[in-house]
Amino acid sequence: MKNLLIGLTSALAVLGPQTIVADDAPVPTQIVDVMNKIYGVHAGFRANHAKGVVVEGSFKASPEAAALSRAVLFAGATIPITVRFSDSGGLPTVPDGSNGASPHGMAIKFHQPGGADTDMVINSLKFFPVANGEEFRDLLQAIADSPADAPKPTKFEQFVAAHPSVPKAFATTSTPDSFADETYYGIDAFVLVNKAGQKQAVRYVMQPEHAVHLPAAAAAKKPADFLVDELPARVAKHAVVFHLKAQLAAATDQTKDPTQPWPADRKLVELGTLTLDKTVPDSLAAQKKLLFLPGQITDGIELSDDPLVAARNAAYAVSFSRRQ
Ligand code: HEM
Repeated sequence: MKNLLIGLTSALAVLGPQTIVADDAPVPTQIVDVMNKIYGVHAGFRANHAKGVVVEGSFKASPEAAALSRAVLFAGATIPITVRFSDSGGLPTVPDGSNGASPHGMAIKFHQPGGADTDMVINSLKFFPVANGEEFRDLLQAIADSPADAPKPTKFEQFVAAHPSVPKAFATTSTPDSFADETYYGIDAFVLVNKAGQKQAVRYVMQPEHAVHLPAAAAAKKPADFLVDELPARVAKHAVVFHLKAQLAAATDQTKDPTQPWPADRKLVELGTLTLDKTVPDSLAAQKKLLFLPGQITDGIELSDDPLVAARNAAYAVSFSRRQ
């Protein structure tokens, strides 16, 4: 955990303490401003999860999915998907095995019949370090205000002391040996609605066929692009398969706080299988045009009272407009 936090802060060693956000800007704009300050602005690249790779394939829902949700993507037809795997952070050249590249991300576009897309944007943290957009801004600002020579305790150390979920969340992830061998978590709660109008709060879990993680020392020795190079090579040889599952909330489980995972014994229901079997000729060009939005959903899937999704939607749109 300490290493991951060092990874986050080491990118900042060159920054001096400074107030860098306009107080009157909306919170999602302030968040992207701080991300741009921490990582620099890299024309054409995302403010966060800047480095990634795109592949394509299909999704086939299970019968259990249709019982939980009337969403078109869960009706059982085979649906084309576009998937982008990514490293954390706003550096397009971050080494894939470095601390700063965790958590790793997976963003999926389900191209539904009729032309509308549903998106899912998930990562390898089991839960989020903070509960809402304001706290995420404050976390990033504390990092930006804590250069290597900052007086102790630094703003970042003070933030962590007041928010124990920060080190706890980062301790839940490490470098996988392949983007294909990682479990990705939806973190935010959504509500599935079936044909009878029955509602069930869920959190998505994307399970690989095998999860494989590297010890930190081995990850650090890997070539800088080992994850983004390996995935298309693997897909070209044979299909990569993931199982999309829904963790079902009990009636008493809260849905508004993404720092609080539900008990591990909550039922996991298989929603369907993702099969990734196509590389794209120019992944860099493809990812620049793509915008994945966690709140881009469809009838049969609703937002919960988790405030993170609205903050994320707005911040992703700001980042997209700046990278166009
Ligand atoms: C307030 C909380 C969050 C904020 C403000 C935020 C912000 C951002 C921004 C600005 C981007 C770049 C978007 C773009 O240019 O297209 C991004 C990308 C991403 N974020 Fe977040 N994020 C948050 C929480 C999360 C959470 C909870 C997850 C996972 C469950 C997540 C996973 C990802 C992934 C996978 C990407 C890359 C998407 C892609 O491939 O296009 N983020 N985030």
